[in-house]
Amino acid sequence: MSYPYQIKSLEQYHADYKRSVEDPEAFWGNVAENFTWRRKWDKVLDWNFTEPKIEWFKGGKLNITENCIDRHLPEKANTPAFIWEPNNPEERVRVVTYARLHKRVCQAAQMLVNNGVKKGDRVCIYMGMVPELAYAVLACARIGAIHSVIFGGFSAQSIADRLYDAQAEFIITCDGAYRGGKDIPLKSVIDDALVGNRTIKRVIVYTRTRTPVSMIKGRDVWWEDEMEFALDQLEKNGEVNFPAVEMDAEDPLFILYTSGSTGKPKGVVHSCGGYMLWTNYTFVNVFQYKPGNIHFCTADIGWITGHSYIVYGPTSAGASSVMFEGIPTWPDAGRFWDIVERHKVNCIYTAPTAIRSLMSYGTDPLKGKDLSSLQVLGTVGEPINEEAWHWYDENVGKGKCPVVDTWWQTETGACLISNMAGVTPAKPSWATLPMPGVQPVLVDERGEEITERDEHGVMKGNLCIKAPWPGILRTTWGDHERCRTNYFATYPGLYFTGDGALKDADGNYRITGRVDDVLNISGHRIGTAEVENAINMHSGVVESAVVGYPHDIKGQGIYAYVIYNGHHGDENLRRLDISLTVSKIIGPIAKPDKIQFVSGLPKTRSGKIMRRILRKIAEGEMENLGDTTTLLDPEVVNEIKHGKL
Ligand code: WTA
Repeated sequence: MSYPYQIKSLEQYHADYKRSVEDPEAFWGNVAENFTWRRKWDKVLDWNFTEPKIEWFKGGKLNITENCIDRHLPEKANTPAFIWEPNNPEERVRVVTYARLHKRVCQAAQMLVNNGVKKGDRVCIYMGMVPELAYAVLACARIGAIHSVIFGGFSAQSIADRLYDAQAEFIITCDGAYRGGKDIPLKSVIDDALVGNRTIKRVIVYTRTRTPVSMIKGRDVWWEDEMEFALDQLEKNGEVNFPAVEMDAEDPLFILYTSGSTGKPKGVVHSCGGYMLWTNYTFVNVFQYKPGNIHFCTADIGWITGHSYIVYGPTSAGASSVMFEGIPTWPDAGRFWDIVERHKVNCIYTAPTAIRSLMSYGTDPLKGKDLSSLQVLGTVGEPINEEAWHWYDENVGKGKCPVVDTWWQTETGACLISNMAGVTPAKPSWATLPMPGVQPVLVDERGEEITERDEHGVMKGNLCIKAPWPGILRTTWGDHERCRTNYFATYPGLYFTGDGALKDADGNYRITGRVDDVLNISGHRIGTAEVENAINMHSGVVESAVVGYPHDIKGQGIYAYVIYNGHHGDENLRRLDISLTVSKIIGPIAKPDKIQFVSGLPKTRSGKIMRRILRKIAEGEMENLGDTTTLLDPEVVNEIKHGKL
């Protein structure tokens, strides 16, 4: 397979960028010619950001799995699609070729149909990082069911909320999942999520850990049995094939829940055609993928990074993608480097938090590891500090691998701003230049475009995008108005990212972090309001306020100020109770790092919490708290300063 749209030089980048902006329809229509369509589109792009309405390749018919699997079979039947590295390095590696992937996805598609799943139905997937997770995702896509993958670190309550919001009727899960030294009882969490649930018709359980599970008659079935039955059925027809269901380019492909600054997580919806194009185009260009290369994205498929750069991007390009079940520090901090050495990985793509965590072990875990196969290093999920960038560049890349810092979001489907490995220049801690088709703009609080530069020629503002790219979200599930108010209403006519950014004189962007009330904890997005709601569920809590503070490894930590009115146990026990409450309501990933008990919160006379002050105190900034005279009770600030943890 060749990628005629792969950009090979800086000049070509500038030329393509120009063409993509001047005539997006011609540009993306051209790229789209390289995919398998059942029917060609009537119109490349139709849009407005007011409603918003965004349609790419309208009228085009396709199935993304024909692009991710079937079209590779003539040439790549025996090429690995996935190389699965188990949690325990002693266990056998599984190599899933494109031929095997085709067979398994067809079987799983038949299995879903046998269990009553139809086009448009929502299927929740709550599994560990096993190849069957990829089969499940692709099988949904093959029959046109909408998958909603939920990360294994979310609690039963979070799952229940998501099931309800998506009105899902089917679940695919595992008995348990291995993560480092831990076994996570996934099915048992699902059981808790389903107490009182009346909409779920079927739960399919894949056996991974063989931990005891309850299997409810009429509702729960084993994956292995169902897959075997499906295979028998397909074999009766001779060749094992489940014909892919024809989808409209704009039909939803999946829902992925993500946190915002208000309320419950929202279901970001991506479409079949545009998302396919965008993940493929960015995969091929950012990482400069060459046929035969081994790509290793260390993310979990429960997050957008795993969707786009373990499953859809690589397979749509016929690439070989490493899927890792475990964690970077188990059995020791050399695990990533073992994997790189053993599978001759050419590109590793990970999060700054993982790099910082590995940095803290020094360079010993790297000693004796042959990393000479590496050609490209990538990062995603949060701003990367210069120290981590250089450590990665020097110790992992040995100074010879371009580092790509890729900025994007669940809502953007795939990378929007990033250098392209070896093609466009890198700049430590800068995401650098926009992808073709992406038109960033920095605005001030009133939405006016920033024009002023500081003495170094740098502009600073809130990051917005002027026009749609193929992978932009189409709506938020079940509530289009929420999509509009969240992303398109703050600055009318623009998509607002929620991030702040700098732009230098060469047009490079540096993402400085969220400007809304969204935290980024180890690259995981969590809303402060969500954590506050969870803390407030604890019976002894009167009120709380949550802010982020700088954390050496996680990037940001969660700092909670809590007004408490119970009398159970000492302060530490109360802290543990509150943490467990958050764990039950959201999941362990949202547990506060610090809980400070206070007698009051700094509020304005109208009752609004002054988060700016709380954020400064959590950051250790005790002076220059700004104007506190408008506070209802200025004294409370001194008390809070005094009690800082
Ligand atoms: C942040 C993850 C700086 C940003 C793909 C964004 C980044 C949020 C970078 C989206 C980067 C992601 N540099 N910040 N390279 N990549 N972010 O939806 O704040 O989980 O808004 O998508 O992560 O997080 P999400």
